Amino acid sequence: MKTIILATVLLVLLLNPTSSVTIYENGEPGDFDFYLFVQQWIYSYCGEQTCIGSKVREAFTVHGLWPENTDGSYPSFCSGPTFSSSAISDLLTELDYDWPSLTGPNTDFWTHEWSKHGTCSITGPITNQHSYFQTGLSLYDKFNITQAFEQKDIYPSSYKTYSPDDMIDAIDSVYGGKPALQCQSGDLSTIAVCIDKDTLDIMDCPYLSGWTCSGDITWPSSDNNNSY
Ligand SMILES: *[C@@H]1O[C@H](CO)[C@@H](O)[C@H](O)[C@H]1NC(C)=O
Repeated sequence: MKTIILATVLLVLLLNPTSSVTIYENGEPGDFDFYLFVQQWIYSYCGEQTCIGSKVREAFTVHGLWPENTDGSYPSFCSGPTFSSSAISDLLTELDYDWPSLTGPNTDFWTHEWSKHGTCSITGPITNQHSYFQTGLSLYDKFNITQAFEQKDIYPSSYKTYSPDDMIDAIDSVYGGKPALQCQSGDLSTIAVCIDKDTLDIMDCPYLSGWTCSGDITWPSSDNNNSY
């Protein structure tokens, strides 16, 4: 009997899907816990893939505003209008610079971000496609990662290393919320700040699977020999 119970417990543990991320396709708009506002460091991103040379600069740019749940699942591809450039025509100049695709046409990237994440983000202060993209742009102005790091003497460098905790604490002390970091080959590649879905204020990110950097990391600068 004990063996059967033990075997059952083991089987349940093995089959438990909590370690993998669940994506709810055709989810319900607004049915999530908070937003991840994700910015990518171009030098790291383009060290790993082929970028369009003219778009490469030493900066964080917006990757996306993603609805997320504390258990790591998230809704995607909710019902809603398809992407329309004309709905955001007054934002296009800013979007081109702040929210670019580094590998292809910007409108393809925005179409993807809108249909996968934006359609599920319509809730509270975000009421339509225009306010979705406008919110992304205003969060980008508000949570200036480079500026927060500068205030804590953290600068891009090809030889200096920093501890992930020092970087998290820098953002936390300047903006009042702990971000989540991602690295590629020891380089800081992505930073997400967590955003309250009702107030659009920053909050501490919960533990997020796949969002950890281990050991001391580099925040690479333009004097790197990256291969784009
Ligand atoms: C962020 O701060 C840096 C450094 O202070 C500045 O150069 C940059 O223009 C700022 N970016 C935005 C979007 O305000």
